[in-house]
Amino acid sequence: MAQASYPALRLRRTRASGWSRALHRETQLAPAQFIWPLFVTEGRGVEEPIAALPGVSRWSVDAIAARAREAMALGIACVALFPNTPAPLRSARGEEALNPDNLMCRAIRAIRDACGTGIGVLTDVALDPYTSHGQDGLVDAAGDVVNDATVEVLVGQALVQAAAGADIIAPSDMMDGRIGAIRGALEAEGHAHVQIMAYAAKYASAFYGPFRDAVGSRGLLKGDKRGYQMDPANAEEALREVALDLAEGADSVMVKPGLPYLDIVAKVKTRFEVPVFAYQVSGEYAMIEAAVAAGAGERDALVLETLTAFRRAGCSGVLTYHAAHAARLLGG
Ligand code: PBG
Repeated sequence: MAQASYPALRLRRTRASGWSRALHRETQLAPAQFIWPLFVTEGRGVEEPIAALPGVSRWSVDAIAARAREAMALGIACVALFPNTPAPLRSARGEEALNPDNLMCRAIRAIRDACGTGIGVLTDVALDPYTSHGQDGLVDAAGDVVNDATVEVLVGQALVQAAAGADIIAPSDMMDGRIGAIRGALEAEGHAHVQIMAYAAKYASAFYGPFRDAVGSRGLLKGDKRGYQMDPANAEEALREVALDLAEGADSVMVKPGLPYLDIVAKVKTRFEVPVFAYQVSGEYAMIEAAVAAGAGERDALVLETLTAFRRAGCSGVLTYHAAHAARLLGG
């Protein structure tokens, strides 16, 4: 392509004023692209601040409905729910995940009642908030997470969430074959309209620590999740994971964590041309808040710049604990 050169070409010309920068902006950021993760806990009228995530709390089911109403008023697309299951209900096989009246299902129904179809409800499918060992699946005698038996439980978990009114099932467990199994079960059980957003490229990351505090699994987890979550060194493998999940019926795919993996987002978007989401995870949120507390950066600017970067890399939307704050900044 023929292009003028300096001085005929001066790229600073279009940057000289606010209106011109806005006119030439290639990427737009709006609350409709945000998914807000919320933590649910037992009780009534409860708000429990999470020390590792300053500014983020666990909410009881009644209070979650109020948060969802707030999100809807801000124009946020969707909330993502994670339960802090009471310790006595956690077990080796995570049976509480299948209870149609568990925290997650009650929260889904409360949001449905409060908001109708005005906001999406995305639910996490994985067993770590329900297991006494903190792994995302069933473990054998050697402590390994077994794939196919876990998938059977995940299918049951997805079905109770769909029956409670979930709009998007989001499996975060990284078992092989779970997308196809869940898609088939949703079709068979009359939930053909329920979407699946696959955590397709989910890495075994050091950025999940505060989340594990939030759902109460940090102290329980022995070992690590590297036998199922991806090696941070791999990109080609992420494309294979995405291809599989799409072939099995995922409506959209997610890359997680977010900012350190924008190269993966860009590769997935270019290769597959499907809706791609990223999760700006708990450790990323905590890093921004720590930078703000240390006087190393300004919160509003850090939040908007990082979220814009996700969009520039190719994301349709972003899961972020800063969703409500960012929506307010954007005038939602
Ligand atoms: C586990 C799950 C994790 C997150 C979402 N679902 C943690 C993990 O894999 O141990 C992390 C989210 C975050 O850090 O914000 N199923």
